[in-house]
Amino acid sequence: MIRNVLVVGAGTMGHGIAEVSAIAGYNVYLSDVSKDILNNAIQKVKWSLEKLYEKGNLKESVEDVLGRIKTIEGLSNELREIDISIEAIPEKLDLKRQLFSKLEELLPNNAILATNTSSLPITEIASAVKRQERVIGTHFFNPPVLMQLVEIIRGSKTSDDTVKQTYEFIKSLRKIPIMVNKDVPGFVVNRILLRIITTACMLVEKGICEYTAIDAVARYKLGFPMGIFELVDYTGVDVNYYVSSAMMERGFKAYPCKTLEEMTKKGDLGVKSGKGFYTYPSNKYIKPNLPPQLAEKINPLYIIAPAISEANWMVKNGIASKEDIDLGVRLGLSFPKGIFDYEREFGRESVTKTLEDLRRISGMEEYLPE
Ligand SMILES: NC(=O)c1ccc[n+]([C@@H]2O[C@H](COP(=O)([O-])OP(=O)(O)OC[C@H]3O[C@@H](n4cnc5c(N)ncnc54)[C@H](O)[C@@H]3O)[C@@H](O)[C@H]2O)c1
Repeated sequence: MIRNVLVVGAGTMGHGIAEVSAIAGYNVYLSDVSKDILNNAIQKVKWSLEKLYEKGNLKESVEDVLGRIKTIEGLSNELREIDISIEAIPEKLDLKRQLFSKLEELLPNNAILATNTSSLPITEIASAVKRQERVIGTHFFNPPVLMQLVEIIRGSKTSDDTVKQTYEFIKSLRKIPIMVNKDVPGFVVNRILLRIITTACMLVEKGICEYTAIDAVARYKLGFPMGIFELVDYTGVDVNYYVSSAMMERGFKAYPCKTLEEMTKKGDLGVKSGKGFYTYPSNKYIKPNLPPQLAEKINPLYIIAPAISEANWMVKNGIASKEDIDLGVRLGLSFPKGIFDYEREFGRESVTKTLEDLRRISGMEEYLPE
């Protein structure tokens, strides 16, 4: 039974994971490399708890919840009682491997060692420790307090018991877990998203349409909360470039988007730099103005068909169930419906025909239908 949770890394994700764990009643140890970082993280947790309290979304007082989070600089011997650790340090394989090997020394033998990595293979992190069966991926979305979805990723040696306990733990945080049964690059949600982004980029680079037409179709015909390039600007052009490159290096075959690379090199990083595909005065997000008639310029299937094919590939290969993939895109990407709902609406035949068109346009076999 899990009572004591260790969160390592008190940055963007770590402080939020610590907060949701404390809200759920766990004793939380939050570790980072300096007192200043930890103090800053606690201030952010306090601010967020106060907001939840004001809205009536916190059953206890802010002080009671905060009282369950203990900060620790570095790692220490007081971690003997930890049942699960969740690592949220920077996305660097060597750093994570070093940390896992240290955690294995300090934590009890049966502790679960989870990682919040978004793009590194769980199996490669796990290979730094002896008890690889206790290592698992728990991919929270940003911000963890508001986003319901958590992808649970099985590494090649993760045991059934570790999966079961982690699944129950994530549910106890009032989050919705989906199972990623094989350690594939991008897990479920990023695979679907990258299929869409790389295809959108390919269509623009091949001169089929303007990026604004793609964004209008995404918004007005597919009901996505944002256009594809608008989302890239929002999350960071560089972040998308690095995540897609990391996934491709590990075998995810997709169109290599030159535009993302060039913009990253130029420093056109989207909202945070004030300029990406759109411009953002004072580096603040504003919704780009897209006339609805732009959405007539391209068939929406050109955007969604590759995602449908990817989803079918994942089901066929035992990576995730249809239900979990649909939950993943609805909760992780805020799509108004699941990928398989789109497939039903458009019909398999039109999807197949579109994939053949995309293969012809791109010259890439990856667009062959699944
Ligand atoms: N930011 C996101 O939107 C997001 C979403 C999902 C997953 N992730 C993943 O979560 C992880 C953390 O990302 P982040 O955005 O929170 O990073 P971040 O840079 O905001 O925070 C990382 C923290 O780890 C600390 N740290 C570094 N080395 C440490 C060590 N050895 N021990 C303890 N603390 C250490 C740093 O001081 C920093 O406070 C990454 O693997 C990332 O890929 C990020």
